[in-house]
Amino acid sequence: MILRKQHVVGLDIGTTKVCAVVGDADEDGEVHIAGVGSTPSSGMRKGVVIDIEATTRAIEDAVERAERMAGMTISALYVGVSGEHITSTNSRGVIAVSRGDHEISAADVDRVVEAARMAALPASDREIVHMLPRGFVVDGHDGVRNPIGMYGSRLEVEAHIVTGTSTVLANLLKCVQRAGLELEDLVLEPLASAEAVLTQAERELGVVLADIGGGTTSVGVFAGGGLCHTAILPVGGHHLTSDVAVGLRTPVAEAEKLKIRHGAASVADVHEGELIEVFNVGDREPRILPRKVLCEIIEPRLQEICSLLRLQIKRSGYGHLVPAGIVLTGGSALLRGSAKYVSEKLELPARVGV
Ligand SMILES: Nc1ncnc2c1ncn2[C@@H]1O[C@H](COP(=O)(O)OP(=O)(O)OP(=O)(O)O)[C@@H](O)[C@H]1O
Ligand SMILES: [Mg+2]
Repeated sequence: MILRKQHVVGLDIGTTKVCAVVGDADEDGEVHIAGVGSTPSSGMRKGVVIDIEATTRAIEDAVERAERMAGMTISALYVGVSGEHITSTNSRGVIAVSRGDHEISAADVDRVVEAARMAALPASDREIVHMLPRGFVVDGHDGVRNPIGMYGSRLEVEAHIVTGTSTVLANLLKCVQRAGLELEDLVLEPLASAEAVLTQAERELGVVLADIGGGTTSVGVFAGGGLCHTAILPVGGHHLTSDVAVGLRTPVAEAEKLKIRHGAASVADVHEGELIEVFNVGDREPRILPRKVLCEIIEPRLQEICSLLRLQIKRSGYGHLVPAGIVLTGGSALLRGSAKYVSEKLELPARVGV
């Protein structure tokens, strides 16, 4: 047997940055990070390509940096998909087990998954990104993880199906190809983040993952055996920043700095006497303002994000089945006090996972 390292390369084309990661899987299947490359990007808006040229360049640059660090050439990679165009549904497939002795075979599993796919056939302008079997039912007994080899006459599958708009996916693919790379497969962003930040125990108990990025917030609800609801909301850290820029009449770059340096999720956590310096548009002399004023701008937007999260959790139909609470990730989860705030608003335990 030849023992060789397996490389896996992932690409996250975010609203604020493109990030390439090279992972090496050793013989035990453990993955070590061998290279990382990140480049600021301006070619995306809310998870969707708006500038093919800029996105292609950012991909090339991020990949080149990751290649240099890992000391290898990257030719194919997994690409994360995001954007409001992503929707998900749960579907069911049913078949009669084919073999005379009623032993369920791999072919039966393929057939039942195909039946679930047919039952949820997307509109002609949409494509299936993921087809995730959540669990099988054998002769009415549910909760079966792997039915192959079991006896039964009726096999059912519950599957989570994620679809995206074909043209949006095609534009993403075009950027990857123009950067001279081959697409291994598309991976839904919330699924990729889940791999990185959720523990096995959280996933088994039931948990919500919220990736609060720059232009988007993606939500994944894991309950009852797997991912059962996905949504990508068009709000994120950019909105916090632009609210601050408008509210304090300061340039966006200055607003971004203020948010990161002095921002907090909750106004209640800020002391009256704390002061900050704010540079005006055009002026040289900074104004001195209470830090509370900054947080009074941030909190309502965060509250809006929480209401949207609450709605998505409710829509999943599993809101009562997430005892492990909510795990926050993405750059905006770094806002001071974010976990405490989200926990109070959603009445769920919350932690930040990176
Ligand atoms: N310490 C911090 N406090 C608050 N916000 C922060 C902090 N650090 C980064 N951010 C915000 O995080 C956002 C970027 O997050 P991230 O890198 O996850 O986005 P992205 O993946 O590029 O975007 P998206 O997922 O929306 O496509 C920016 O809006 C930035 O202002
Ligand atoms: Mg992101």
